[in-house]
Amino acid sequence: MTDAATRPAAAQTPASLAALASSSYELIVAEQHASGAYPASPTFSAYAGYSWFRDGAFTADAVSAYGGVESAGRFFDWCAGVLQARSASIERIVQRAGAGNPVPDAEMLATRFALDGTEGTDDWWDFQLDGYGTWLWALAEHAERHGVDTERWQVAVELSVDYLLSSWRRSCFDWWEEHASEVHVSTLGCIAAGLRAVSRSGLVGGERRAGADAAVAAILDLIEREGTSDGHLAKWLGSAEVDASLLAVISPLGVVDARSELGRRTVAAVDEQLNADGGVHRYLADTFYGGGQWPLLSCFLGLARLAGGDRAGALDALEWAASTAADDGQLPEQVGRHLLAPDRTAEWVDRWGEVASPLLWSHAMYLRLAVDLGVVAPLGAEGDR
Ligand code: BGC
Repeated sequence: MTDAATRPAAAQTPASLAALASSSYELIVAEQHASGAYPASPTFSAYAGYSWFRDGAFTADAVSAYGGVESAGRFFDWCAGVLQARSASIERIVQRAGAGNPVPDAEMLATRFALDGTEGTDDWWDFQLDGYGTWLWALAEHAERHGVDTERWQVAVELSVDYLLSSWRRSCFDWWEEHASEVHVSTLGCIAAGLRAVSRSGLVGGERRAGADAAVAAILDLIEREGTSDGHLAKWLGSAEVDASLLAVISPLGVVDARSELGRRTVAAVDEQLNADGGVHRYLADTFYGGGQWPLLSCFLGLARLAGGDRAGALDALEWAASTAADDGQLPEQVGRHLLAPDRTAEWVDRWGEVASPLLWSHAMYLRLAVDLGVVAPLGAEGDR
């Protein structure tokens, strides 16, 4: 079998790009668990059996954008179930934060859950806040896009908003499950996107809505004062580095306008520092599996470029992501064509086996960019599953 890690980017045709988008959707819905959870990677040792709010929310968003109304709704049902089952913990977290005596990190909500919505038995790098914002954002977008009734998610939305309002200032692990003592700008962006979306769409009202609006304003102010460096968004408050997760804050989350100075300089900084021949690294000091290039991040770069009016650049990013597909069409988490720390690959292979593939989030970001580029036509109502 051809090794996608070493294979050079092959020329793609419009038909092959579209086919990978529709097969990505098919793979995602085929892997969706009966509970509604999207497994991060059904076969990878460390991820099998678990669903992340972060991966899952971006996956539901892509599925929704493609027209998979029912599948996306079932993921939101799973999220709602997870949250409602923890309403007592959330009330306690909110109450303790309000009393100036916040609970320790270990008592905050988990980052990932077993497919049946329980905690699972394996240790993980909990806690992370971004997914609780991203699911709100994806849900509000979905509701608006398809005009769906949100009644059944109302309680879970309110729990999420209360949780985020009580705790958004806390440091936590970032998208990459690292640097727990920092406040990460992409995490803040995900939270702001979620709170803004539920306020705008009227999913919350009254005091909760006023609280969400105030928090969004405070987050944007904090990012402006402490979350930028040299005119671009920074990896965490006070950092001078960039991280490719910041692209999401521009698109699809839309918290920073792609055409603003800050948006343009962030895309330019990621492009200059983290993009090697179309493949995007997470951040310069990355050593995970040797610090390779992530197709899902090339797709985030494509989305940010597209939002800034650079359609040709966005298509290049999609083509690069397509070039990482194995012969069976599966997209991996990362490829090793260009490694930042080649001597650190083996330790991860020894620990967890070969790089995760398929990674549903990679397929999702590919699908989302392909839809936005018009490379694939969304499903008609009759094609929905
Ligand atoms: C990544 C996370 C991701 C998880 C599941 C980890 O290696 O750092 O961002 O949520 O895998 O895909």
